Amino acid sequence: MGDGQTTYPLGERDIPTHWVNIAPDLPEPPLPPLHPGTLEPAGPDDLSAIFPPAIIAQEVATEPLVEIPEPVRDAYKIWRPTPLFRAHRLEAALDTPAHIYVKYEGTSPAGSHKPNSAVAQAYENAQAGIRKLTTETGAGQWGSSLAFACSLFGLECEVWMVGSSYDQKPYRRSMMRTWGGTVHRSPSQLTESGRAQAEHQSGSLGIAISEAVEVAARDPDASYSLGSVLNHVCLHQTVIGQEAIAQLEMAGEAPDVVVGCVGGGSNFAGLTFPFVRLALQGRLRTRFLAAEPAACPTLTRGAYRYDFGDTAGLTPLMPMYTLGHDFVPPPVHSGGLRYHGDAPLVCSLVKAGIVEARAYKQTDAFAAALQFARTQGIIPGPEPAHALRAVVEEALEAREAGEPRVILVGLSGHGHFDLAAYDAYLAGELEDPEFSAADMEAALERLPQAPAIG
Ligand SMILES: Cc1ncc(COP(=O)(O)O)c(C=O)c1O
Repeated sequence: MGDGQTTYPLGERDIPTHWVNIAPDLPEPPLPPLHPGTLEPAGPDDLSAIFPPAIIAQEVATEPLVEIPEPVRDAYKIWRPTPLFRAHRLEAALDTPAHIYVKYEGTSPAGSHKPNSAVAQAYENAQAGIRKLTTETGAGQWGSSLAFACSLFGLECEVWMVGSSYDQKPYRRSMMRTWGGTVHRSPSQLTESGRAQAEHQSGSLGIAISEAVEVAARDPDASYSLGSVLNHVCLHQTVIGQEAIAQLEMAGEAPDVVVGCVGGGSNFAGLTFPFVRLALQGRLRTRFLAAEPAACPTLTRGAYRYDFGDTAGLTPLMPMYTLGHDFVPPPVHSGGLRYHGDAPLVCSLVKAGIVEARAYKQTDAFAAALQFARTQGIIPGPEPAHALRAVVEEALEAREAGEPRVILVGLSGHGHFDLAAYDAYLAGELEDPEFSAADMEAALERLPQAPAIG
């Protein structure tokens, strides 16, 4: 441990001026989303019922860099650049020669990476004259981030929160209300999609998305806002990786492996895509490792198919690893990882063998989170706890190999609103719900008829 440098601070001027679009660098051009009725590629017109033009332009962007509007950069100054630090104490506890660097997004107002996209989406919608944004939230992180962002740009915010998280995290609701948002428990009685899923009282991200899309589609003054999965959300998050590249340069290091958790894929994309670009250009030799929950193992067990992004089937069909849009994952504590699909861009990198994926049980993830909290102080969110579990594995492999491998991990948020889950873990009461392959197979049977991919 000694006197080694720990933090690598950047200044306000180092906030990136552009977002990184990985699409033009992919080995194969990205597959288009499909219109669910015609099965033809969905164009900008198909998205205009729920998204403003600037967001659609970002969704289909083909240029490698997209300029960040000045008011968005200005809002980023509230919390960016975020810290990158070396986890000397965790390294010592693991007795590993690995160098572990942590890019920490928990210093944002909402406590995670989610505001990186929320402020961009709120800004573009306000510019387009939209009055209200509707959205879903799993862990409560995205809903609170969007409520915060709407408060900056004068928009109303209405959130459908996954039932199990709504019950587990009352203070996430308070946060959204503090920023002026409205929160409903999903499935709700307010929408057809919610009423149709009333028997699934624990809810799911897929159901909550259907509810929010339904309300936005019938209100001309409202837009829908998605907190993950789509290309423009991944794009917005790339401020994370660009800062991390500059910070690792200060440390004089290049990563052997970059690790992140994947729910819908946005923090993983944001951290890794700027590095993936360098790797695809032959300028880095780096592995990329996606950590997901064993209870909702989309990348490791899902089928690579066209599927809806939501449960009711209101969205375009997206090419992705999926467990089936009406698969309802068991209620684990990492609510933000309970999604049946994943970002098409991340999925295409997994399919191409550029990103590898591993699934972890939540008790193993919490064990790693506790070790991290007790060495480094920060209490991780249950979602990035999965990434920390992968880091522990990687660090122990480096010890076996006797190699000072450089590991970079995305710590996408803190766990201050997840302490009930920590209590359950400490009391030995946290369980590992089984993933049901039979339920997944049944849900896959119900996938829409669409061209085969992969
Ligand atoms: C802290 C945190 N990390 C990760 C995620 C997973 O989402 P994504 O894969 O889009 O980053 C969430 C989702 O709510 C989250 O709150």
